[in-house]
Amino acid sequence: MGLHCTNDKNNVRINEINSEKKMNEVKIRNVKKEDIPKVVDIQINGWITAYKEIIDKDYLNNMSKEEKIKKREKDYNQTGFIVAELNNEIVGFCRYINDNTHTKEIKGIDCELLAIYVKSDLKNKGIGTKLFNHVKTEFIKQGKHNMILWCLKDNTPSKKFYTKMGGTIINERPIKIGNKEYQEVCFLYKI
Ligand SMILES: CC(C)(COP(=O)(O)OP(=O)(O)OC[C@H]1O[C@@H](n2cnc3c(N)ncnc32)[C@H](O)[C@@H]1OP(=O)(O)O)[C@@H](O)C(=O)NCCC(=O)NCCS
Repeated sequence: MGLHCTNDKNNVRINEINSEKKMNEVKIRNVKKEDIPKVVDIQINGWITAYKEIIDKDYLNNMSKEEKIKKREKDYNQTGFIVAELNNEIVGFCRYINDNTHTKEIKGIDCELLAIYVKSDLKNKGIGTKLFNHVKTEFIKQGKHNMILWCLKDNTPSKKFYTKMGGTIINERPIKIGNKEYQEVCFLYKI
């Protein structure tokens, strides 16, 4: 029994090491047009999983993949857009913009992280941190100082992630999704 327990513990540690090694192999690169359907799959699954207790079910069950692909194809030309890749598979993405055009109402900000998603079954393994830090580093290189992002107020796990990344909540506003109103909070990062 004792030996069995030790082996189980060893196996857990071996699995942890393998998982750490695997995450080290995550590559961050710019999105390509052909990645967009996969990016949209991650986004739709991300919404269904992360927002199931937050956003209206009818809205979540009726998201159109085609519409989201069209929107992302537009984003692709207009803002920063990176993906995380593991074994040639897209496992996360992030969009960002190096100005304040998406949030003019907050003074003094100079860049914004617009969206960040990790494939549902690979959450909590450091991929979000890699995407986040990549964007932050790029903004720092560009001489930016005040980065913000908006997050649904009820999205507690993401708020923990954004806090862990060093952000503080500085503002709040309503947001309409479908025909219902929700509340979102703004995180500020001094970079
Ligand atoms: C939010 C998200 C991008 C974070 O990416 P991730 O790869 O899961 O996060 P990481 O593994 O890099 O986590 C880094 C830290 O954030 C915190 N964290 C991340 N997910 C968390 C969770 N579900 N609950 C509590 N803390 C969490 C932890 O402190 C973690 O550090 P630790 O493991 O050393 O304790 C990802 O979970 C996601 O895609 N969520 C669903 C979609 C979403 O809500 N996107 C944001 C829209 S505003």
